[in-house]
Amino acid sequence: MAIDLPFELIDRLRVAKRIVAFTGAGISAESGLSTFRDKQTGLWAQYRPEDLATPQAFRRNPRMVWEWYEWRRGFVAKVEPNPGHHALARIEAARPGFFLVTQNVDGLHARAGSRNLVELHGNIRRTICFEHRHLAESWEPVEEPPPRCERCGGLLRPDVVWFGEALPENALRRAQEAAAHCDLFLSIGTSTLVYPAAELPFIAGSNGATVIEINPDFTPLSKLADFVLREKAGVALPAIAATMLE
Ligand code: OAD
Repeated sequence: MAIDLPFELIDRLRVAKRIVAFTGAGISAESGLSTFRDKQTGLWAQYRPEDLATPQAFRRNPRMVWEWYEWRRGFVAKVEPNPGHHALARIEAARPGFFLVTQNVDGLHARAGSRNLVELHGNIRRTICFEHRHLAESWEPVEEPPPRCERCGGLLRPDVVWFGEALPENALRRAQEAAAHCDLFLSIGTSTLVYPAAELPFIAGSNGATVIEINPDFTPLSKLADFVLREKAGVALPAIAATMLE
């Protein structure tokens, strides 16, 4: 389904030189992955974050946490990038000043071909040890999961940011700098509730960038955004890419 973009937005898309796209779980919904905060199907409607996505939860019950992420990794491995992910990769290939910041841990942007990308919350397909953050490429199967780090013997965990943990410093700094210096900021499929990531569109807006929100639902950003497209990412982004690449 094609959509008509407002004329003023078309002008701004065509002249923009430094563009930041910021994505959340909504962009991967059309690939078949659950978001976090959807009232019925969101992961946090079915599970409590404090039982599964905190260092305390891992210390309390490492097996349950490991197995929950194994289950999610299984889903991620089965799904494919969708037209929203592909549209962002096309924009990057055509516009040198394009930078992508994602909160998603599913790796679908990289699979769609995005390269100028930071993953603020890590990547579920990468595994590290809990104590020393050694990267684990492989491990021996064990009777009582999680498996152990081959370097230090510590328990393995997914390389994602849990509640109460700091974001990767370098990735956050690059994202904040890009937001402060861009002239167009696209906020796509995120509830804009989880800080510090959620401050990025506000940093962009207060530094004079045109802020565009793509989300079927209202968020705390909706009032500040210059343009709000109440569309699915897989519909709005191909239209935006087509306009920018004309
Ligand atoms: P949320 O689940 O909080 O929000 C998803 C947003 O996507 C909602 O605002 C939906 O309205 C919107 N949405 C749903 N389908 C869409 C579609 N097809 N196209 C566009 N938008 C759509 O997910 P995030 O904002 O990504 O953190 O959540 C932020 C962080 O909270 C996550 O990175 C995760 C979570 O706890 C960590 O794991 C550290």
